[in-house]
Amino acid sequence: MVTSKSHKFDDVREEVDRLNGEARTAERLMEGITPLLNRHMLKYNWVGFYMLEPGAVPPMLALGRYQGAMTPHTRIPLNQGICGAAASLGKTVVVDDVTKDTRYLACSLETKSEIVVPVFVRGQVVGELDIDSHFPGAFGSEDRALIEYCAQLVSKRLEKD
Ligand code: SME
Repeated sequence: MVTSKSHKFDDVREEVDRLNGEARTAERLMEGITPLLNRHMLKYNWVGFYMLEPGAVPPMLALGRYQGAMTPHTRIPLNQGICGAAASLGKTVVVDDVTKDTRYLACSLETKSEIVVPVFVRGQVVGELDIDSHFPGAFGSEDRALIEYCAQLVSKRLEKD
């Protein structure tokens, strides 16, 4: 059966909803989202959460749940990387070609594009969902909507936990 591109997004969103129904905590939800996106979305080659370390001065993002190759960047200050930019701006950052973005911190030579979506609790950034792709320009509007949806579910769970 041929599955259209939009059906694929709908199917993954359903899987994410199912996971959200089953996961008892935000931590479990994040633990489930990373392999789900990595396995179902073929261009999402590294999927992980970075969370702000509580009380760290200066503020620091620490690597949380992830799926993909090990990264040397386990702690990222807010003035470094695409990750630091998304957290300090409080906005989604999409980079179609990482070689052209001077902020980029390399994790893997294979990475060509990246998206970072902030996770909020009551309007404050507390972390982010970071996805790297081996393909340039891998994150279109449907990808962005799906990834922002995942980050919002985590935000809602964190607000309840
Ligand atoms: N590329 C990120 C660093 C984290 S790795 O992608 C896992 C950045 O520029 O902030």
